[in-house]
Amino acid sequence: MLSNARPPLTDDERRALERAAREAIEFRAGLAEASVTPACRPAEAAARIAAELPETGQPADAVLAELIEQATPGVHGHTSPRFFGYVCGGSMPVGAAADVLVTAWGQNSASSWESPSVAVIEQILCGWCLDLLDLPREAGVGIVSGATVANTQAIIAARDVLLRRQGWDCDRDGLFGAPAIPVIHSDAAHSAPLAGIRYAGLGLGRAVKLACDDQGRIRVEAVQAALAACDQPPLVILQAGQINTGASDPFADIIPLVHAAGGWVHVDGAFGLWANAVPELKPSVAGVDQADSWAVDLHKWLNAPYDAGLCITRNRADLVTAMSARGAYLPDLGETWEPSESTLELSRRARGVPSYAILRHLGREGLKEMVSRHCRLARHLAARLDGQDGITVLNDVVMNQVAIACENDERTQQVLARVQQNARVYPSHGTWLGRQIIRASIINHATERADIDLLADEILAANTDLRG
Ligand SMILES: Cc1ncc(COP(=O)(O)O)c(C=O)c1O
Repeated sequence: MLSNARPPLTDDERRALERAAREAIEFRAGLAEASVTPACRPAEAAARIAAELPETGQPADAVLAELIEQATPGVHGHTSPRFFGYVCGGSMPVGAAADVLVTAWGQNSASSWESPSVAVIEQILCGWCLDLLDLPREAGVGIVSGATVANTQAIIAARDVLLRRQGWDCDRDGLFGAPAIPVIHSDAAHSAPLAGIRYAGLGLGRAVKLACDDQGRIRVEAVQAALAACDQPPLVILQAGQINTGASDPFADIIPLVHAAGGWVHVDGAFGLWANAVPELKPSVAGVDQADSWAVDLHKWLNAPYDAGLCITRNRADLVTAMSARGAYLPDLGETWEPSESTLELSRRARGVPSYAILRHLGREGLKEMVSRHCRLARHLAARLDGQDGITVLNDVVMNQVAIACENDERTQQVLARVQQNARVYPSHGTWLGRQIIRASIINHATERADIDLLADEILAANTDLRG
């Protein structure tokens, strides 16, 4: 023995790990039959879960046993093939299994020297994603916790570049007294890039918000007019995959206009950017590769476990200069690939490993099949519902999102509440075109036609019942 007498893993700790593994397997295996909503909501969960900090500790295995017993009733079926709420990927088991290793390895993934295997895996993942998403292969990629951070990082990088174009060094002189950056976004943008505008100190109240068409696509003429009013190089935020409709902005028409004005185009493609990986969907995002930066989640359409997204910039130096703790005074980017130089964080978990495992498991064909299947199923759902007993599908189903409205807002909310209470399927709420909607997002790797038929049946039955 090299060290002291305490083994690195005690029998108690081994039992705790084994219990966690057994529970993980049982939980996932039980999803097919389990209720998709939690058996308890926050108040009951608070009553169940131990809240007092114990004075003395308990054995590890006892902690795990109680954790499972107390917390499981309040765990939502986000990984269920019958969960259609928000836009949540289903966390593929192969990714979850790789995530167990990530936790066990406990790598600090900031540095390639300190954690060589992780750095290599993550660099390979970034290359594969650029290839799949058909973005410039030499782009810079930061593996971040999700699309909100990816949007924010990209907007910070854009800010620094746009200020540099006006002769201002934001790293050195900050934003006080800096020249203005006109910011343009659509009124159908997700809150994530809007938060990014605030976090980057660009002032959401100063940004120009443009009206969209009825699918949530920004209008080219509106962008033209807004650009004509810009005295400085602008930041224009576009979107691949509007959360209610799945529609994407007309990139091919807009991006050249922004570039002609000396500006930067950032694309929030949290889920919709994956359309560029699938031949039949690619035309719906034509020209997206011409942008300057992109945000995309891995924990949505790739079905990676949570805590995974990519911030991508066309010019790698723009991202590294903005994110490296060493700031704009980098000696040399060269060929080195240091994970921490493309993210806000220094220390972090090896969050790219599960996505690497998923892509090895799916392969290019498997990924394309999954995304296409989801879009096909979304069209099937729309066909089953549209025009039935006062139900309307408000969007053209071009991707995986379906916006469903009943004959009036009250009925829509009642139907949604009934369907959620029945707990066999779980769509969520939203508003679109001034109406309440039931929003279904078809994005779980395991979802099949029978799950969609059940969702349609549940909505139709609730609607019929409530109409009397
Ligand atoms: C279009 C869009 N952008 C950004 C986000 C935010 O992503 P995240 O929750 O991973 O930060 C979402 C989440 O649903 C989204 O749909």
